[in-house]
Amino acid sequence: MQPERRRFLKLAGLGAGALACGRAAFGPERGVPAVPAALAQTGPDLELALEAGLEPVALRPDRVETMLRYRARVIAGDPAAVWDPGPPFPGPVLRARRGQRLRIHFRNALAEPTTVHWHGLEMPDDMDGHPRHAVEPGAGRVYDFALRNQPATYWFHPHPHGRTAWQVYHGLAGLLLIDPAESQPAEATPRELALVLQDRRFDAAGALVYDPTPMGFLGDEVFVNGRPAPELRVPAEPLRLRLLNGATHRSFKLGWSDGRPVRVLGTDGGALEPALDKPYAMLAPGQRLTLLADFGPLAEDGELRLEHLGFEDGAGGMMALATRLPLAARFPVARFRAAEPTAAATLFLPSLLRGAGSRGGWAAASPGLQPLPPATDRPTVRSKGGRPSLPTQDGPADRSFRLLMQQGRWTLDGRSFEMEAVAADERVALGAEEVWEWVNGSGGMGMGGMMQMPHAMHLHLVQFRVVGRDPDPRFAAAYATVRDGFVDEGWRDTVLVMPGERVRIRARFEGFTGLYLHHCHLLEHEDGGMMRNFRVEA
Ligand code: C2O
Ligand code: CU
Ligand code: CU
Repeated sequence: MQPERRRFLKLAGLGAGALACGRAAFGPERGVPAVPAALAQTGPDLELALEAGLEPVALRPDRVETMLRYRARVIAGDPAAVWDPGPPFPGPVLRARRGQRLRIHFRNALAEPTTVHWHGLEMPDDMDGHPRHAVEPGAGRVYDFALRNQPATYWFHPHPHGRTAWQVYHGLAGLLLIDPAESQPAEATPRELALVLQDRRFDAAGALVYDPTPMGFLGDEVFVNGRPAPELRVPAEPLRLRLLNGATHRSFKLGWSDGRPVRVLGTDGGALEPALDKPYAMLAPGQRLTLLADFGPLAEDGELRLEHLGFEDGAGGMMALATRLPLAARFPVARFRAAEPTAAATLFLPSLLRGAGSRGGWAAASPGLQPLPPATDRPTVRSKGGRPSLPTQDGPADRSFRLLMQQGRWTLDGRSFEMEAVAADERVALGAEEVWEWVNGSGGMGMGGMMQMPHAMHLHLVQFRVVGRDPDPRFAAAYATVRDGFVDEGWRDTVLVMPGERVRIRARFEGFTGLYLHHCHLLEHEDGGMMRNFRVEA
C-alpha cells in the first residue's frame, strides 16, 4: 500500500478492509432502517439512495487520493433527478421541483460518524442533520422532507460535531437544485453551469494536506469542480453560473478579468429581480450566487477569467496561515474559452447544459453533454403564493451575539457548542419575526482588534434578509476592499461579518419547532465550537 494511502486510512480511522465496500454494497437495503410509520403514509415524489463512502479521486493528473464522496441514485421518481459526472466533480447534483417530497435512504459507509445537513432548506429539526443525530459507521437513516424553499441553489454536506471541516475538505458535498413547481418553456432560458469552489493543499511529495489551526486553513490551490483552476470550454452565449463556495475557510472576491461587472441573478435562497450588477461579488464559505455571464463577446485572446481580486481580511497578517494564495492576492479561479464543449471536455467541465432534448436525456449514460431540464424560475425576491416577503428595514436587534476569541477558542457570546443545551436567549417563539445581530469582536480587546477576522454566520431553518451593517472605523481600509461586493439584496442563509463589524439580519421563524443551529461557516471555527443551538418553541 502506498504510504500516503496508509496515512489517509489511519487519519480516517479505517482499516484497509473498509475500502472493500465500494459501489457493490451501495443500496438502501443494507444498514438503513425502515421508514417510520408516520412518514410512510404518503409517498414521496422522489426516493433516492445516498451513500457517503470512500472513492479514489484523481485530484491532479498524476495523483490519485482516496477521498470521501457522496454517491446517489434514484430509487423511484424522475430518473433525471440525480446527476453525477463522477470524480473529480465533488459530488452528485440532486434536482427537484419546489413542493416535491424527497425521501432519501442514507447509508454511512465511512469509518466514522457523519450526518447529512441540507444547507439552506426549511425542514423538520430531526431531518436537518444536526450532530445529535449522527449516523454511525455502517448504519443508515432516512431523511424525509418536502422542498418548501424557493427555487435556488442549495447544497448538502456532513455536520458531525468536530469533524465537519475534515469531512468536507476530503470531499463530502453535493448540490441540491430546486426548480419552480411548474415547468416553464425552455426557450429564452440560458443554459447553465455549476461551479463548486474549494481549495486544497499538497505537500512536497504531492500528497493532500489538511492541518488546520484554530484560526482556520487555506489551501494553496483553488479547485473548481474538482479541478485546479480549470480551463472551461463554454458556448459563445450567455450562461447562467451557479456558484457554491464549498471551501472550509476561504472567502472569494469574484470579478471578471476584462473588468465587466458581475451580473447577479440570485443568492442563497432565491432569485433577484431585477438582476444586479456589482463591480465584484463576495462569496463566503457556504454561500451561493447565481451569475449571468455572456461568453459571446470575449476578449481578444478569446479567454475570460473569473478571478479572485484579492481583499484585506482585517486580520492584519497575524494569522499564520501558510498559503501560496493569500486572500489579499489576485489569482484566476476559472478560465473560460468560447468553444462548443466536447465530450472529453465535460470530464473537466461538469456542465449542466440544457440541450434540445428532453429532461429524460439529462441523466443518460452518455459521457457527452448532458441536456439540462429548463430551469426557468423568473428572478423574483417575492414568491407568489409561498413564503411571504420579509420587510427589509433595519431595526433594533432582538438578539445580539458577539463573535469572540477567548482562551484560544472561538465562541458565540462567550459560549461554545453544547450538543443539547439551549440558553435562555436562544429560544425563539414559533412565527416570530426577529432581528439578529452579530458583533465581530468586543471592541475592547486592545491591540487594534487583534484576534479578529471575518466570520461567515449561518442560520439553519430560515432564509433571512441582511438589514444593517455597521462597519468598524478601525478597519475602514480593509472594509473598503470588500464592501461593494456584498449581495445583501437577496435571500441569504449565510452572511460575511468583517472584523469589528455589526451585521443585522431579519428572519421569520416559521414552519417548524425544534432544535436548530447557528454557527460560523468557516468550518474550522464551527468544529472548534463557534456554534450554538437555538430552539423554536410553539
Ligand atoms: Cu452548511 Cu450548519 O451548515
Ligand atoms: Cu446549514
Ligand atoms: Cu468564524
